[in-house]
Amino acid sequence: MPEIDYLQDDGAPFIPSGSCLLEGIPGPCSIVIMGASGDLTARKIIPSLYNLHLKGLLPEPFLIVGCGRTGYSDEEFRAVMRKDLFPGTAEGRGWSRFASMLYYRQILYDDLSYYRSFSSHMAALENNAGTGGSRIFYLAVPPSLYETIALLLGKSGLSGEPAGGTIWTRIVVEKPFGRDLETARRLDRTLHQHFSESQIFRIDHYLAKETVQNVLIFRFANAIFEPIWNRRYVDHIDITAAESLGVGHRSGYYEEAGVLRDMFQNHMMQLLSLTAMDPPSQFEADMVRDEKVRVYRSLRPFPVHDLDNHLVLGQYNAGMVDGKRVPGYREEPGVDPDSLTPTFATMRVFLDNWRWQGVPFYMTSGKRLAKKETEIKICFKEVPHSMFRSIIGEHITANTIKIGIYPEEKITLSFQTKNPGMRICLRSAEMDFSYEQGMDATTKDAYEKVLLDVMLGDQMLFWRQDGVELCWSFLSPIIAECEACSGRADMLRFYPAGSKGPQGFSGQR
Ligand code: BG6
Repeated sequence: MPEIDYLQDDGAPFIPSGSCLLEGIPGPCSIVIMGASGDLTARKIIPSLYNLHLKGLLPEPFLIVGCGRTGYSDEEFRAVMRKDLFPGTAEGRGWSRFASMLYYRQILYDDLSYYRSFSSHMAALENNAGTGGSRIFYLAVPPSLYETIALLLGKSGLSGEPAGGTIWTRIVVEKPFGRDLETARRLDRTLHQHFSESQIFRIDHYLAKETVQNVLIFRFANAIFEPIWNRRYVDHIDITAAESLGVGHRSGYYEEAGVLRDMFQNHMMQLLSLTAMDPPSQFEADMVRDEKVRVYRSLRPFPVHDLDNHLVLGQYNAGMVDGKRVPGYREEPGVDPDSLTPTFATMRVFLDNWRWQGVPFYMTSGKRLAKKETEIKICFKEVPHSMFRSIIGEHITANTIKIGIYPEEKITLSFQTKNPGMRICLRSAEMDFSYEQGMDATTKDAYEKVLLDVMLGDQMLFWRQDGVELCWSFLSPIIAECEACSGRADMLRFYPAGSKGPQGFSGQR
């Protein structure tokens, strides 16, 4: 089957007579990648652009201009990208056309003269290619450089959008958006010195995962789930993002961030808001983001003086993962041998609103756990009265709805049935929907989706600053307390790599 979820038109999304939201192929533009010799460019950005190219979804014409401190020529940059894309193999399909869109320019990030000369270089490239001048600046650099680059893009005139409205300039910022409320606000103020809100795209790649997007469709395009999606029927909700990988080569960043900044301030909060939000009146970027913000506003302030009863923090020791011996966090290269950085957290949070009053949300994320698994599990209450108690006891396993995000994108409803035979015995059964089943369009990688959305100017899957600030307002006091408290070492529970992590809370199933 050909791709059916895109049509080549003027670029505007529209709804056809069926039930798909079709996206157009974006109009001509360029992407300028700051940090082009870095890891994110090699692992995510270039492979995603290449896949979009293979699927025929890149604009025509299109330019990819890498910028970085390394002094590559265009040819050297192409050779490096080719080696990253096809390690040890012959070049893949479509490479020569893709390579012809790739260019490189050396830039010293804190030197305005480089930006000025880049500006005229870029104009010449665009002139040649006929892209017309619309540009994305993708900041694939360490967060400490975001403000410098945004300021110098502005000072050199690169952030501007000519009057008239057809040529645009957008800036893409990766998480972390600051390291607490104050730094997040400062970053935002700096970005806004030269960019307007509609030009700023704050990426959270979790939002672009197909199944994460499907949460809203599942909840709000079906009439049967919404009436039970509340405190009357739901006992608690588990949101889990477990990873089997360790910190790898990112120890410098991770030592500063820890699991709360790395996973909770962004991905976990997005999963929470999608699970808990009310339906917006329209599927439109700001209306969806308004509802998410209402969830963040309802977060009950965390009992920071009673952390032990609401937060479990852990750090991995050496252990076995996938049959291989792996080092403990403190033995990873670049990690302080006495590090107190948490690599695991379980947090119990409550939302103070009518829908969720009293329902605990358990959010768990950790590295070097037994397996990589991301899921949202809605755990319903038990039946109010068991007429089977003389046969099977008082308790009947309660229903659950599991929204699997990784490894399997699927939705599973568990319920009780009678075991076949003469005797009355209950058994749990599951009804499964696998996301790929019966699909006639291929799914896109999260980065492909976000890149396409930036080109189309659709901000639905990006953070808005009010959401960022509300989440920092909630998390900063917790992080501050954890980092300041004298019992910090006692709080940290060590777990062997390859295990399920330290024990969570009672009440959590
Ligand atoms: C990133 C975190 O944002 O998300 C990483 O910085 C984490 O530490 C990753 O491993 C997880 O993403 P995914 O898509 O593999 O679940």
